[in-house]
Amino acid sequence: MGDIAQGPGAALGGAVQSEGGRWSWIEGEADWVPPPIDLSQPSIARIYDYWLGGKDNYPVDREVADRIAAIDSGGREGARANRRFLVDAVESMARSGIRQFIDLGAGIPTSPNVHETAKAIQPDAVTVYVDNDPVVLAHNRAIAEGEPGVLVLPHDVRDPAAVLDDPRVRSVLDFSRPVGLLMIAVLHFVEVTAAPSVLGRYLRELAPGSQLVISAASSHGADPDAVAQLKAAYSAASLIFRTWSEFEALFDGLEMITPVTEIHRFTSGVALGGIGVKAGPRSEAG
Ligand SMILES: C[S@@+](CC[C@H](N)C(=O)[O-])C[C@H]1O[C@@H](n2cnc3c(N)ncnc32)[C@H](O)[C@@H]1O
Repeated sequence: MGDIAQGPGAALGGAVQSEGGRWSWIEGEADWVPPPIDLSQPSIARIYDYWLGGKDNYPVDREVADRIAAIDSGGREGARANRRFLVDAVESMARSGIRQFIDLGAGIPTSPNVHETAKAIQPDAVTVYVDNDPVVLAHNRAIAEGEPGVLVLPHDVRDPAAVLDDPRVRSVLDFSRPVGLLMIAVLHFVEVTAAPSVLGRYLRELAPGSQLVISAASSHGADPDAVAQLKAAYSAASLIFRTWSEFEALFDGLEMITPVTEIHRFTSGVALGGIGVKAGPRSEAG
């Protein structure tokens, strides 16, 4: 392994480990253990992991997934379609020259992940994963330990200042250059009224040429009774279904690269996706 650089991470109880100028975030405390998991409460990340065929889920999560399957059997297919959208979006951003990514609401690692996809096109790509679920953080940290250019942070995506002002983020991302900002299957946990100021704060910080990718649940064309049943069955969190125009409004102020489209149609709703770019003079991609 390489040198331990005394960067901002060191001051925060961790270290930025550098090898030939490349780095990865590692926990400073060798005895760090993930926080205990409350197995009586379903988790957004673990239910989604179950739909993707993962192993990091528990009976309490599968019970919610089964209740949902009785209303709408499209969970697994929808989750896979969402992952395809994510991978396509990261490939497209990396091909456009973007080399730094922030994945908000990253989820339990699923291959190919954002950093794998980005590095296949931009080998020196940097990815910052953000999530507030301890299981997600534990698994992503296990990956980050052996992977240069990957940083995993515990933050609430609804607190952009905490993410953007985190010295560890500042130490690895260059905000004078474009960033790919991903909010994939996470904004349906953020209130419709709260989202504009949250997104506005992230976007103000990002350089022209930065791209915003969003996928989220929508009630567009759905049976309102089925939507209501699904919301009641999803006991892991309050699930928010946006109208088409509420979803489109998430990209206000951006130029659309991929206009809002249906990623997957469920019987009780639809997953919408889109990609927008922050216009303005760009210095250079990267
Ligand atoms: C459905 S998963 C999506 C994972 C991944 N983005 C994907 O699309 O494959 C949603 C993720 O968002 C996280 N999440 C939900 N609300 C959050 C919040 N307020 N702050 C940080 N993460 C959040 C959950 O823990 C979960 O890992």
